[in-house]
Parts: sequence; C-alpha cells; structure tokens
Amino acid sequence: MSLPHILILGARGRLGSALACDCARGARVTAWGRTEADLADPEAAAGAVRRARPDIVINCAAIADADVCETERDLAETVNGLAPALLARAASDVGARMIHISTDYVFPGSATAPYAEDATPAPLSWYGRTKREGEVGVLAAGEGHAVVRVSWVFGPDKDCFVDKALQLSLRGEPVRAVADKFGSPTYALDVAAALRALFPASAPGGVYHLCNRGVCTWRDWAQQAIDSAATLGIPVKTREVEPLKLSDIPVMIAARPIYSAMSCARIEALLGEPLREWPRAVDAYIRLLRDAGRFGAG
Ligand SMILES: NC(=O)c1ccc[n+]([C@@H]2O[C@H](COP(=O)([O-])OP(=O)(O)OC[C@H]3O[C@@H](n4cnc5c(N)ncnc54)[C@H](OP(=O)(O)O)[C@@H]3O)[C@@H](O)[C@H]2O)c1
Repeated sequence: MSLPHILILGARGRLGSALACDCARGARVTAWGRTEADLADPEAAAGAVRRARPDIVINCAAIADADVCETERDLAETVNGLAPALLARAASDVGARMIHISTDYVFPGSATAPYAEDATPAPLSWYGRTKREGEVGVLAAGEGHAVVRVSWVFGPDKDCFVDKALQLSLRGEPVRAVADKFGSPTYALDVAAALRALFPASAPGGVYHLCNRGVCTWRDWAQQAIDSAATLGIPVKTREVEPLKLSDIPVMIAARPIYSAMSCARIEALLGEPLREWPRAVDAYIRLLRDAGRFGAG
C-alpha cells in the first residue's frame, strides 16, 4: 500500500515545522515554504497544489502576526482571506482533503466559558477578519475540508512568548506578562499528533478546535514554564512573573479578544480521549528543550 502524500504549506513556521517532522512518520511529506508556494500569488500557489497531487493539504501559511495584519491590510487579505479558498478548490480538484489552520482570534472575546466549534465568530481585528474569510472560503470549497482553530501556539521550532519569558528568567531579569487576557495554550506537537485523526477520509469535515485543555492568562502560562523549569533543575533565576494589564502594552496595534479559550469536543470525540491539560503540555515542552540541550549541558 502506498503512503499517503501530505503537502504542508507554511512548513517553515512554528506550527508547520512541527507538522512536517511529525507527519513524516507513515506518510510521504512535501514541505513547502514561501519560496515553493507564495500565497501572495494565490493562483500560482493553487496551480502548484494541483501539480503536486497530494492526498491531504495542510495549510499553516498565514500572516499570523495580528499587528502586521493591521498595517499590511491588502497582503493579509490576499494571504489569509483569499488564498485559502483557492487552495481548497485546488485540493478538491485532485481529490484531496484540505486541513486549514485558523485561529481563536475569529471570536470577539466576550464569552465567559470556552467557545464551542459552532459559536458565532465576530472578529475584532483585521487578522481575525481575514482568517474568518479564509475559513468560510475553505468550507465552501467542499464538505470534506476541515478548518482547525488553534490558539497561543508554542513549540520547539520558533521562539514564542514562553521562550522569551524563560530567557529573561535565566538571565535574572524581571518577567512581566498580561494577567487580564484568557485563553488556551496549544502545544505544536500535540496539534501534530491530534491532526492525524483527520487524515482518514471517514473523518468528517467542518470546524474543529484544537488546543490544550484548560484556561489561563499569559502570566499563568509564563509562570508555569518557569515553575516547570525550576522543578527540572534548570537554573531559572526570576521565579515570579509580575502581572501586567493588556492596556499596559502600548506596542499592540490590533484589538485582541479578552477571552478566547476554546472547547475541543469534536476533535476529542474523534481521538477518543481528551487533549492533555495545558500545564502538562508546557511541562513536556520544557523537558524537550532540556533534553535537546537548549539550556546548556547539564
Ligand atoms: N502562533 C499562534 O499563537 C497562533 C495562534 C492562533 C492561530 N495561529 C495560526 O496557526 C497557523 C500557523 O501559525 P504559526 O504560529 O506557525 O506562525 P508562523 O511561525 O508565522 O508561520 C506562518 C508561516 O506562514 C508563512 N507565510 C507568510 N506569508 C506567506 C506567503 N505569502 N506565502 C507563503 N507562506 C507565507 C511564513 O513564512 P515566512 O517564515 O517566510 O514568513 C511562516 O512560515 C496560522 O494559520 C496562524 O493564523 C497561530
């Protein structure tokens, strides 16, 4: 039996890199970055997908920085809003399923309990609006296609907020993080493992949420990373993360949802088990970094 052919777009980003490594087990993976498929030219990118004739397309490519989307509106509209539909149509043309990665920023943030998959999107920012447009285009291109919303992604292939908090702590500098914004961290390696549930043709399309279980603030997230590191004997110096208000961060241009935690019932039903709790995922991540020698020998 031939191996399934999985085409990953945005394969050099934080999430795409993790998927490209993980999917290589038991599949033939084609991993494309911007050079191989530039979503700023959606027709050309869709043509490349048709020629590659994959069984599954996973689109991780996006302008994922909400502030950049506010200032580069036309580009964000093309890459996040228009290109996904063309890619999904190209996938349909060759009989492939498209798995399109989207975001918690499609929600307005006024909820008090995790957003379900069928909650109504109402984005606050240009990033959220263009990502929602991308979702709608993908879903309209075929009922087998899946939109997978993730949030607060962390993983070994590209530094994010928790890595920066750890670096400050290791140097003994103050660590401050927002304590009035709530969501669910998503470990890239957990996404890679869980997405396999969407590979069989029998898995239904539609909207999925995929993040680690539980709700926290950016401060809780950084604190957990430092606590996990301390428990593992990593020489973190600053032990307490100081709370900040979102309004204390002047460099943010885009409006962000205050509460964007998501419940993941649909993917958990396919997996047959709950996703792991976010503190355990952070713990696993710090162990991985330690074992890779990222905190020095010993
Ligand atoms: N990071 C988060 O916390 C988060 C939260 C919610 C949802 N998401 C979603 O998760 C997905 C993956 O994001 P990520 O965290 O992995 O972000 P990332 O590290 O910025 O990866 C995005 C990738 O898209 C590529 N890209 C940008 N413009 C492109 C273009 N015109 N053509 C082709 N590729 C292009 C980037 O390439 P270059 O490296 O060349 O710029 C980058 O490799 C995105 O859909 C994002 O909306 C992320």
